[in-house]
Amino acid sequence: MKVQEIKQLTPTIKSFTFISENTELPSFGAGSHITLHLPMGMRQYSLINNPLDMINEYEIAVKKTGHLESGSTYLHEDIYEGDVVKVSPPDNYFPLQMEGKHHVFFAAGIGITPFWSMMSYLRSLGESFELHYAVSGQDACPFYNEMNERYANQVTYYLMDRDSKTKKLKERLRELKVGTHVYICGPQSYMDFIVTYCRELGYPKKYIHEERFKARKLEHPTRFKVTIVNEKKTIQVNSNQSLLEALHDAGITIPSACRQGICGSCEVKVCNGEVLHNDTFLTANEKTDKMLTCVSRGKGHISIAVE
Ligand code: FES
Repeated sequence: MKVQEIKQLTPTIKSFTFISENTELPSFGAGSHITLHLPMGMRQYSLINNPLDMINEYEIAVKKTGHLESGSTYLHEDIYEGDVVKVSPPDNYFPLQMEGKHHVFFAAGIGITPFWSMMSYLRSLGESFELHYAVSGQDACPFYNEMNERYANQVTYYLMDRDSKTKKLKERLRELKVGTHVYICGPQSYMDFIVTYCRELGYPKKYIHEERFKARKLEHPTRFKVTIVNEKKTIQVNSNQSLLEALHDAGITIPSACRQGICGSCEVKVCNGEVLHNDTFLTANEKTDKMLTCVSRGKGHISIAVE
């Protein structure tokens, strides 16, 4: 797709608008992301457009990280208007639950992006929502003026220190009625904090929605053995490879998509052994006899069955 427009939204955030000159682009739902195929690998970014606008373009906002090899640095420094980038069609692991009467969004930093699309979508439909936005300052907020013009009564900023922020977030979470759909996107520690507190308050898991583009980081992955019972094979998974990769090397192909523990495509049945779950997809109940091979690992020796 062609990069039609690049805008500098803050000192570290740029928006990129992609168009296709020859074809009609697939439609998408609020909360969707696209996958860019960059020299350093595939990178997923939330769409910030209103899905109802139907303007045949995809728009993302990307924060430049400090890493020289990162996708965001590449986009910021090496991509110009008119360049062509391979883009996979939108997918959505973070859809709005439209049966909800009120939607509550918790964003931190660049985690605002999926909500920017969701808020304009809900506004178009006349639905009720509120945003709680933790950001380091006004100049770090990519849509600050528009946000205040359009959603003045629906946005609460959290510009204070960490302790005050935590206190205020907890207060709001305690006030919400059970049955409110809560959506979270931001750095891992922020997301973990909100999810853990919601669970402590008794929020059912199905009302807590998380957008994680990275699996939780496993500190020191170690090698382990896996017996694939229905293939009568035992293989070793080295510390630098995933179970999915080791199965593939052994000639056993498992479907996969995100490879980040968020879509569920690479699920296998666990027959025996201890699993270190590292995904954000399976429920606690499902984790008793299932695992996602792209991110989760075994301890010692485990047995699985593949379809
Ligand atoms: S490929 Fe998506 S969870 Fe493993």
